[in-house]
Amino acid sequence: MIRNDIKQLAAYHVPDADGLIKLDAMENPYPLPDALRRQWAERLAQAQVNRYPDAGMHDLRAAIAEREGVKPEQVLLGNGSDEIIQMALIAADSGACVIPQPTFVMYELISRWLKRPVATVPLGKGFSLDAEAFLRVCAREKAAIAFLACPNNPTGNLWPRDTVRQIADNFRGLLVIDEAYRPFAETTHADLISPHAIVLRTFSKLGLAGLRVGYALGCADTIEALGKVRLPYNINSLSQLSLAFFLEHFDVFEQQAASIRAERGRLMAALLAMDEVEVFPSQTNFLLMRVPDADAAFEGLKARGILVKNLHGAGDVLKQCLRVTVGLPEENDRFIEALKEIVRETAASA
Ligand SMILES: Cc1ncc(COP(=O)(O)O)c(C=O)c1O
Repeated sequence: MIRNDIKQLAAYHVPDADGLIKLDAMENPYPLPDALRRQWAERLAQAQVNRYPDAGMHDLRAAIAEREGVKPEQVLLGNGSDEIIQMALIAADSGACVIPQPTFVMYELISRWLKRPVATVPLGKGFSLDAEAFLRVCAREKAAIAFLACPNNPTGNLWPRDTVRQIADNFRGLLVIDEAYRPFAETTHADLISPHAIVLRTFSKLGLAGLRVGYALGCADTIEALGKVRLPYNINSLSQLSLAFFLEHFDVFEQQAASIRAERGRLMAALLAMDEVEVFPSQTNFLLMRVPDADAAFEGLKARGILVKNLHGAGDVLKQCLRVTVGLPEENDRFIEALKEIVRETAASA
């Protein structure tokens, strides 16, 4: 009835965060300003929910295209960038999907849904990526598609532009350069767009995770082809209306991203000052750190009302690692105080 390999899969797990300070999912912690929230509600009241949504979304794509300096036909909208990852994996030629290890889990998970073989290229020291090794695996596996998250999740680092360029210049399948964390990296690889490479973006990390809207930028032919495996009406009317409204007020989200970047620096400095914690450089809205006992730290933080992501058990490179999303200043203070306490307790009981 149901494929055996699907039954064996571990489902994407979303932990219950009820009553906890939520620092596990790379969301923007800042709420919408009240005045903006009221205007948004007025705009939403115009939604014609008895009708199907605008299927082609030309105006919305044109608004995004204008911001990005491309043509509307170079923009594809998805129900989160997750959906575009799925569209790319459906539409690409048959052949393996090549990804660095570790990276964003959905590349592998969706490949498995689609019975597409996956080959991984382990990251090196400092989570570095060896472009030649990556290209060798692509050739060996006859890869049809590859993903590079720039910056990478969960490691937080951004590979040098030349590394990404070397892969983009030489890979002959479809390269998806995933820039989900672009607002925190302040750099783009959009100049690498070609018939072989698309760039993926999302509004989720900027403060609109609940809308579920992501987009791809690419050559018009590639975008048109990918659009053929898009479910009709994939972006619902409320999300379309909301996004059109928020694009008119985008400075709010850009300012919040700047505050998050500043807070990231403060959080990083506090973690660097803790001898027991090794914290890794980040160009994202989260920090990856290695602690003496990740399981104990995760549980200890949870007991103190803070939810982070425990990556211990997700492969050797992430041994004893936790990932914490940059929160509000007071949330970050609580996290630091709690972690200090836990690390002291662990040292005392060792
Ligand atoms: C690298 C990367 N790409 C894509 C996504 C998915 O984002 P969206 O909310 O747009 O589906 C995430 C979410 O964590 C991510 O880390």
